[in-house]
Amino acid sequence: MPAIVIVGAQWGDEGKGKATDLLGPHADYVVKYNGGNNAGHTVVIDGETYALHLLPSGILTPGVIPVIGNGVVIDLDVLFHEIDNLNARGIDTSRLLISANAHIIASYNRTIDKVTERFLGKRQIGTTGRGIGPTYADKMTRVGIRIQDLFDPSILRQKVEGALAQKNHLLVKVYNRRAIDPAAVVAELEAHAERVAPMVADTSLLLNQALDAGKTILLEGGQATMLDVDHGTYPFVTSSSACAGGAATGAGIGPGRIGRVVAVAKAYTTRVGAGPFPTELHDDEGERLRAAGHEFGTTTGRPRRCGWFDVPVVRYAARINGVTDIALTKLDVLTGREKVPVCVAYDVGGHRHDELPVSQSDIHHAVPIYENLDGWDADITGARTTADLPKAARHYVETLEEMVGTRISIVGVGPARDAVIQRHPILS
Ligand code: GDP
Ligand code: IMO
Ligand code: MG
Repeated sequence: MPAIVIVGAQWGDEGKGKATDLLGPHADYVVKYNGGNNAGHTVVIDGETYALHLLPSGILTPGVIPVIGNGVVIDLDVLFHEIDNLNARGIDTSRLLISANAHIIASYNRTIDKVTERFLGKRQIGTTGRGIGPTYADKMTRVGIRIQDLFDPSILRQKVEGALAQKNHLLVKVYNRRAIDPAAVVAELEAHAERVAPMVADTSLLLNQALDAGKTILLEGGQATMLDVDHGTYPFVTSSSACAGGAATGAGIGPGRIGRVVAVAKAYTTRVGAGPFPTELHDDEGERLRAAGHEFGTTTGRPRRCGWFDVPVVRYAARINGVTDIALTKLDVLTGREKVPVCVAYDVGGHRHDELPVSQSDIHHAVPIYENLDGWDADITGARTTADLPKAARHYVETLEEMVGTRISIVGVGPARDAVIQRHPILS
């Protein structure tokens, strides 16, 4: 069985954690390949709610080997806090493996994330403030600290001193902050070395060996297509490759190993933070979606911006990621409406765009062209087959499938693990 990627089709929080949890029992490994603790995945199992940030959602599946790949950035304090919390709730985390090549979010990167945002003022991205952007920036400018550096005290000291030599100038002279003492940072990081050591591995080698042995690997994306640093609504994006292409790089396997790509899309759309969002609702309908869908961030608690389903966005995601299957989540949230608008194209200055415009300014100015589909009233949270859905709900799913041009294999009708309709088998 080849590798399977799970990727967000919109601006995050589509329910990737639940989709990973659903497919987890069929996998031998679940790998987080990008991002860090900017992610927040809520998974509900037997009435228990788990909020995961840095750990792959597969950590909740007995028997699966959870892996943090080289493409991830790791805040070690958060990692251990999350492990301790899960252990206290009886979840075994002892199989967790961490790539020796993953980068570390040092405390100065959190500081820089926050001061940079403040400095940007009205132009701020609305980051999660977890140090994600500055850590990936360090990786790209080759002054990052990797997990393997924790085990070589002399290298660690040199690297932290090197990184801070430049950053302290910035902090003091531009941001008017106090300089950071490299020795204190080294001490902070070294304090974690012993505990993390048994988890560290050549995860790329292990994953390739596992694929050779016919094992199944689930590659779990954080964030989403529209937040991807290359393909999202730049600069209002995160700093990693959240798309399926990033799964190969971020896990250290060849792209040819990937057999299926599952895009998770909400039956409507949400976004946290700044940036364009054509179908955003600023009225009572938006409030209603937020309330019904409990649309508040898992990581920062911020209210999520809400809007209708945007077909060109999800069709774009299908194209960019080579999507084979869609998991459409939160259909239940749309219950109780006479009509459900769906954005089928945009009007930009009098010109119709059927696809997502390539120009960022056009996306900012895009006015959605809606088609109003019939709504439904009946509670659908108990539906387990397509036949259990009211005709209008079934029609909604079938219409989106046709418009996006990719089969919808899973439909979510509630937060619980079993609140799904499987329309097509993903793993055969
Ligand atoms: P992720 O970041 O993509 O994993 O998504 P989040 O966990 O941040 O947000 C998705 C939220 O929707 C979580 O609270 C899930 O428990 C919840 N959820 C997932 N699927 C469904 C569904 O089909 N219906 C409802 N009502 N909630 C869902
Ligand atoms: P999951 O995995 C939704 C958003 C932030 C901000 C932008 C950049 O739960 O879907 P960052 O801290 O990454 O530099 O912030 O990206 N963002 C997310 N929005 N879900 C996420 O993750 C997100 N991770 C980052 O709100 O706009
Ligand atoms: Mg989330």
